Amino acid sequence: KNNKKVKDLLNATTTLNDITVKGWVRTFRNNQFIALNDGSTIHNIQCVVDFENTSETVLKRITTGAALSISGNLVESKGAGQKYEVQVLQLEILGDSDAEKYPMQPKKHSLEFLRENAHLRVRTNAFGAIMRVRSTLSFAVHQYFQERGFFYVNTPIITGSDAEGAGEMFKVTALPFDKTPRTEEGKVNYKEDFFGKETNLTVSGQLEAETYAMALGQVYTFGPTFRAENSNTSRHLAEFWMIEPEVAFNDLDANMDLAEDFIKYVIKYTVEKCADDLKFLETRLLEEEKSKPQNERSEMSLMEKLNFVMENNFKRVTYTEAIDILRNSKPNKNKKFQYLIDEWGADLQSEHERFLVEKHFKCPVILFDYPAKIKAFYMRLNEDGKTVRAMDILFPGIGEIVGGSQREERYDVLVEKMKALGIDEEELWWYLDTRKFGTAVHSGFGLGFERLVLFVTGMTNIRDVIPFPRTPQNAEF
Ligand code: 4AD
Ligand code: MG
Repeated sequence: KNNKKVKDLLNATTTLNDITVKGWVRTFRNNQFIALNDGSTIHNIQCVVDFENTSETVLKRITTGAALSISGNLVESKGAGQKYEVQVLQLEILGDSDAEKYPMQPKKHSLEFLRENAHLRVRTNAFGAIMRVRSTLSFAVHQYFQERGFFYVNTPIITGSDAEGAGEMFKVTALPFDKTPRTEEGKVNYKEDFFGKETNLTVSGQLEAETYAMALGQVYTFGPTFRAENSNTSRHLAEFWMIEPEVAFNDLDANMDLAEDFIKYVIKYTVEKCADDLKFLETRLLEEEKSKPQNERSEMSLMEKLNFVMENNFKRVTYTEAIDILRNSKPNKNKKFQYLIDEWGADLQSEHERFLVEKHFKCPVILFDYPAKIKAFYMRLNEDGKTVRAMDILFPGIGEIVGGSQREERYDVLVEKMKALGIDEEELWWYLDTRKFGTAVHSGFGLGFERLVLFVTGMTNIRDVIPFPRTPQNAEF
């Protein structure tokens, strides 16, 4: 009846009798002091064992990782470091943890080692904090949109379309490999497969979300998306979560306003709700910085970075202006930015993006009006006939965090574009219907959720902000 969470006990304002707390042992000192954690907070509660009246066998089983149920009284602590502690009256070992074999020893493990133990790493302080922050951020996403009258739409995971036209799709076949229907040449005969057509895991819910925006006005998706890009970087996952709002009657300016306001809101919400976890992550980062040479250390702490983003306007710059800046910038001495573009029309490499954000503007940047040639088919063509109403938001330390656009709402222009790119009109007949019946200006964007979690937690590898990362050659868990 008096079950308590560690969080509640730490926030208690009076002593409490007859409480029970369940959790896992972090450390056990002097045969007396258990640091118990139940995942509700970064902090442990100290539970003091009356070792003189506890059997040797039980004491031996209080090891790091063991699951315990402790009943007793919350009393004022005589030791420094905590106001209250649990005076243990009854201790039950729910699950042993062999100290010799338990991989999560109470010491600092490398992130690589922890990735290999993705099922246990969440028991460490750092990963507990990261995953609580992730959860809070996702709640903030829903809260932001729901408070503003957006409807949450669940777009399909299995689709027949390639929204981005990048061809980086995981194919779906329904039957076991050896039973997959084949043509005479040995190719998969999708017509006879489960769906009767070629399907893949979605790369984006945008096209479906557009059809919903053209009925419900303001919608958003928040779900898993899949990309079979064979890039083993610290910013790419094969399975990642994307947030995609889509709004009828919004032009590109309104789209930029929405994205900026949204990002600031979710960061603010999380900074308020996860103060302790972020403080822990900030301290961890500061420790890490100390091992770096002076000139590579970050100028700002984690909280300073988050505050900076919340308090400053994102810089809005056209692609053309950005190219001019890059052209006129000398590569810096250590040649980090030696690949500067001098050709209008080329796609920006991550070096360029980082130069603009980290060296030139020193703040988040919204780049817009990109060359049509390097962007997806659905983007609104500008009057100049060569740029589209696209926007990318670039973040310090992250690079591209958002990609979005005003959509091409004109049926004829869209069809012409699809023809030019060899996109089958018949495949996208349903998408084209939005332009045939009651078309209107509309815009949206996609925010890579893990990149946002990276930014907020200050972590540097995207594999460390999703519970079970999917990357090339890695689907162990
Ligand atoms: O720029 P992208 O490809 O845009 C779209 O998919 C649009 N359909 C979105 C829209 O307008 N509704 O992807 C959007 C964002 C990127 O800015 C990036 O943050 C993230 O998704 N992203 C990835 N995150 C992790 N791993 C990957 N492989 C990612 N690819 C894109
Ligand atoms: Mg993009």
